[in-house]
Amino acid sequence: MHGPLVVVGSINTDLVMRASRMPQPGETMMADGFAILPGGKGANQAVAMARLGASVEMIGRVGDDAFGGLARTALAESGVGVAGVQTMPGMSSGVAAILVEHNGENRILVASGANAHVGFDDVPDALLHTASMLVLQLEIPIETVYRLIETATVPVLLNPAPAIPLAVSRLRGVAFLVPNRGELAVLTGMPVTRTDDVVAAARRLVRAGIGCVIVTLGPDGAVLVTQARVAHVDAPIVEAVDTTGAGDGFIGAFAATLARSGDVDNALAVAVRYASLSVTRHGAQASYADATCFFQSTPTS
Ligand code: RIB
Repeated sequence: MHGPLVVVGSINTDLVMRASRMPQPGETMMADGFAILPGGKGANQAVAMARLGASVEMIGRVGDDAFGGLARTALAESGVGVAGVQTMPGMSSGVAAILVEHNGENRILVASGANAHVGFDDVPDALLHTASMLVLQLEIPIETVYRLIETATVPVLLNPAPAIPLAVSRLRGVAFLVPNRGELAVLTGMPVTRTDDVVAAARRLVRAGIGCVIVTLGPDGAVLVTQARVAHVDAPIVEAVDTTGAGDGFIGAFAATLARSGDVDNALAVAVRYASLSVTRHGAQASYADATCFFQSTPTS
């Protein structure tokens, strides 16, 4: 794999409040803290890849407001190529309102803004044939995602988040599909409570033409399912303070490691540890370690 990793996806600014619990309907309560942080599933994944030393190009859109400038700067400062990030005059940038409880659980509401205008033609054709991998999520128009999958000749990784019903027939040929448990349930309509259920649901997607399904299981690690095998990787036990962007960190670390080593099992193991480390810190991009810090903190890699 020689070309850059190419992420086509959302770029948001996260408005984050922390509280001991969520307010009830009609209730006003005081937060413990507030932060404005760079986010967006696409941008988060790109930043995690770059922090781990990968060459990454981001394709997306921001508005011409202050949030767009902040988000673009955050990407560039992390080493992500931003030549493919367009600024749309008169448009708002993507924003996410995020509530985080003390146990690290979050609730996220996204206003798409410019992300809703990311189109197939935003992606230079050459990248669809020279990237080491094309990485997609679902915070941009679904038709853009389907056309990119159908056109790219390089391996495609799709993170089907946030969860929406998809035409699985239009995902045929995706090399890596990386849902969490909830997203897998929405995709397949199958139970996903036990690990056996997860494997059965993932197998159905593999039978439908997806190369490899990797289901992220939070504190239970991740499970990989292909036609030939099933592999489960346990997660280290950590104290979670904020799970925001953990799945994005997983995908970024998986893609960056796979691009470097070409070894899926190694990439999976690194991704599980990288996501586990991210939940011990606040924020999404703010929680992603760089390569030096990560490999020092998880010396078995
Ligand atoms: O996956 C976490 C991300 O989801 C946040 O950064 C937020 O912007 C939303 O896109």
